[in-house]
Amino acid sequence: MKLIYRTDNDGLLKLAYSKDEISTAVQRLADAISNDYAGQKLLLVVVLKGAFIFAADLSRRIGLPLEIEFVKLASYSGRETTGKVKITKDLETVIEGKNVLVVEDILDTGITLEFLLRNLAGRRPKSLKVCTLIDKVKHPRGAFTVDYTGLYCSGGFLVGYGLDMDESYRELDAIYEVTDLPSRGGLNDNSM
Ligand code: XMP
Ligand code: MG
Repeated sequence: MKLIYRTDNDGLLKLAYSKDEISTAVQRLADAISNDYAGQKLLLVVVLKGAFIFAADLSRRIGLPLEIEFVKLASYSGRETTGKVKITKDLETVIEGKNVLVVEDILDTGITLEFLLRNLAGRRPKSLKVCTLIDKVKHPRGAFTVDYTGLYCSGGFLVGYGLDMDESYRELDAIYEVTDLPSRGGLNDNSM
């Protein structure tokens, strides 16, 4: 195991997905999406903050006319989900009658996405699908279908390429697993 990034307080970072692996996954997703929505307009609903880099790369590789909107949800406290999700920044457009594709960074329990999909479905889009860069696949996805998945991973807390731990590491261009986490009291960040 090669540890390639070290910080003073946040444990060690172990490379999980290189820049090239991410790029290949994003291209594969973009190709599938471009193919499936050929000849149609598409609205990307990007879930902030974690999906911002993924969405920037994905949107530039989808060869279709796009609208891009952002939502922000909160349910995590530090590294644990609280299970209660709320919208802290809503869409700024009507989605009724539009092809909507939700762009997520990472799926863990699926609670966040299930909440968002139920909320968006109530606004009567023409179609509603989901694209996630990473699926942690440790939880069954009974309540909804994930239409496009970039990478499957079995667990661990990931940072980089938009993903954060307490708002750090989003700027890294690869994805790392945080290892050897020291116990840290008092985490209260609930942004995603
Ligand atoms: P659920 O459990 O609702 O969680 O599917 C999804 C949201 O939780 C965040 N999340 C993570 N963020 N590294 C992160 O930076 C992770 O390993 C991780 N796991 C879950 C993320 O915001 C996602 O939208
Ligand atoms: Mg986060």
